[in-house]
Amino acid sequence: MDLIFFYFFILFISCYGLAKPINQNFTSIFSFGNSYTDTGNYQILAARAGLLNSSVEFPPYPYGITFFGQPAGRFCDGRLIIDFITEVYSLPFLQPSKAQNASFTHGANFAVAAASAFPVEFFEKNGFVNNQLLRSSLNYQLEWFEDQKSSLCNTTAGTL
Ligand SMILES: *[C@@H]1O[C@H](CO)[C@@H](O)[C@H](O)[C@H]1NC(C)=O
Ligand SMILES: *[C@@H]1O[C@H](CO)[C@@H](O)[C@H](O)[C@H]1NC(C)=O
Ligand SMILES: *[C@@H]1O[C@H](CO)[C@@H](O)[C@H](O)[C@H]1NC(C)=O
Ligand SMILES: *[C@@H]1O[C@H](CO)[C@@H](O)[C@H](O)[C@H]1NC(C)=O
Repeated sequence: MDLIFFYFFILFISCYGLAKPINQNFTSIFSFGNSYTDTGNYQILAARAGLLNSSVEFPPYPYGITFFGQPAGRFCDGRLIIDFITEVYSLPFLQPSKAQNASFTHGANFAVAAASAFPVEFFEKNGFVNNQLLRSSLNYQLEWFEDQKSSLCNTTAGTL
């Protein structure tokens, strides 16, 4: 059911994009989530935590085969829904927020594969996992956004 929902979602975005111009005033997109949306944060964080060999692309080829032609930090053979959304708005693909030297002029992607909505501590405290979890659940992603906000925004206009 989830997959069908997502396919419908992609179709809806595409048709809408063809039917009439989308509001072009959006200049940035910020996203949060898990592997449905991650564009490379898992690879960076897992390498820093020593869970992955940082000189090896993860997930490995043939991930990325149908669009990027090589692994692109995405748990997908091509583009993710977030990539199609940025295309509809004529914005560049979102960089993972943890990437060094990346440009966040048009937004940032805080999603990390395997991230949960509940804090990771909940799973650890209750013994639900026996593997090392990254500090990447939604509460952490929102914290990273708060920390990076001042460097992402030029103005405080319109903020709460
Ligand atoms: C974009 O912003 C301008 C200036 O605020 C406004 O006049 C225009 O209606 C906006 N365009 C859309 C498609 O919302
Ligand atoms: C990491 O991968 C590279 C390339 O496959 C390999 O040469 C290196 O030995 C690996 N390092 C570790 C610590 O496994
Ligand atoms: C970031 O830029 C600095 C200076 O140009 C460079 O030394 C460093 O290797 C870059 N880091 C990455 C991850 O590309
Ligand atoms: C901030 O403003 C400068 C100058 O207008 C622009 O070059 C830069 O891209 C802006 N940064 C962001 C994050 O919007």
